[in-house]
Amino acid sequence: MRHYGLIGAHLSHSFSKNFFTVKFANEGIDADYSLIEIDDISTIDKVIAERELSGFNVTIPYKESIIPYLDELSAEAEAVGAVNCIVVKNGRKIGYNTDITGIEATIEWLDRSNVLILGTGGASKAVQYVCRKHDIPYSVVSRDKARGDYTYTDITAEIITRHKLIINATPIGMAPNVEDAPALPYNAITDNHSVFDLIYNPAKSQLLSRAEERGATTMNGMLMLQTQAIASWHIWQRADKEQPLVN
Ligand SMILES: NC(=O)c1ccc[n+]([C@@H]2O[C@H](COP(=O)([O-])OP(=O)(O)OC[C@H]3O[C@@H](n4cnc5c(N)ncnc54)[C@H](OP(=O)(O)O)[C@@H]3O)[C@@H](O)[C@H]2O)c1
Repeated sequence: MRHYGLIGAHLSHSFSKNFFTVKFANEGIDADYSLIEIDDISTIDKVIAERELSGFNVTIPYKESIIPYLDELSAEAEAVGAVNCIVVKNGRKIGYNTDITGIEATIEWLDRSNVLILGTGGASKAVQYVCRKHDIPYSVVSRDKARGDYTYTDITAEIITRHKLIINATPIGMAPNVEDAPALPYNAITDNHSVFDLIYNPAKSQLLSRAEERGATTMNGMLMLQTQAIASWHIWQRADKEQPLVN
């Protein structure tokens, strides 16, 4: 039996264990997927050995801090500076970023002529990478002027009108703070806008609710979450069959 899992700090609300357990059962795959909470990433080799992991996902707060413990990175993971999927093979650990695949799958259906990205953390960096990869113009909003093109107080109706796709890569509105929403001039959102909130809990954040009221097309983070999980599985399967290709 192959062993996989998710490594993070607080995983009680994780989607991944159920997703992979159902997938393995439905498809008769001889594998299991565990939630592995650790409080120190420097213990990673011990965890891999004890659990006999063939691959694992990594989440908050270790997507960046795990990198020094890896032997190799895909070009995309290196460009973003964060990993969420690791292959363990022949004693080597290779990091990938399948959040990128999840973001690409989601924005494929939306107007991508000009994007406004909220937040500057790991998820925002993956969104920015996808924009650069597909030659999509974008601007970044941060609470700190030094980190972005705009702060929230800079965002005028005109800026919203110019950016047809707004992507929330902050935790604002995530459970349990479901009443919170990014400070934006919502009246400027129209039915020509799309809003993608990376948050998937709740399924409809305040941001998406307000954007929907204005007639915008909305997407939550569930497709991204499912797509990154499937992409991780494909990477682990490929590693199982052959020497992993690093792309
Ligand atoms: N659907 C998926 O598959 C998926 C995958 C990854 C992440 N996510 C979600 O994406 C969100 C961001 O994740 P992350 O890993 O990038 O988190 P993160 O590294 O903590 O970064 C979030 C960024 O949001 C901004 N921010 C944080 N707290 C804020 C606040 N109270 N008000 C305004 N801005 C705030 C910060 O940027 P500034 O300091 O520059 O303002 C921060 O860098 C989370 O909700 C996470 O659950 C979803």
